[in-house]
Amino acid sequence: MSDTLKIHVDQDKCQGHARCKALAPELFDLDDYGNAHEKGDGTVPAELTEKAWLARSNCPEVAIEVSES
Ligand code: F3S
Repeated sequence: MSDTLKIHVDQDKCQGHARCKALAPELFDLDDYGNAHEKGDGTVPAELTEKAWLARSNCPEVAIEVSES
């Protein structure tokens, strides 16, 4: 079985660029201030693995952490 990915947005780093939401709306929500949060507990469905990495590499603030569990 392959590892499950989890994403987490570091609130100290996120500046609301919203690229994550544009690239992977299934994985991120924006709050009233425009800052991103992972949806639910951050678990990435297998079919969205690529989008999780894409969002991470496109965040200018390097605010998105992707971990394998
Ligand atoms: Fe924040 Fe980066 Fe998304 S700055 S809104 S986590 S693209």
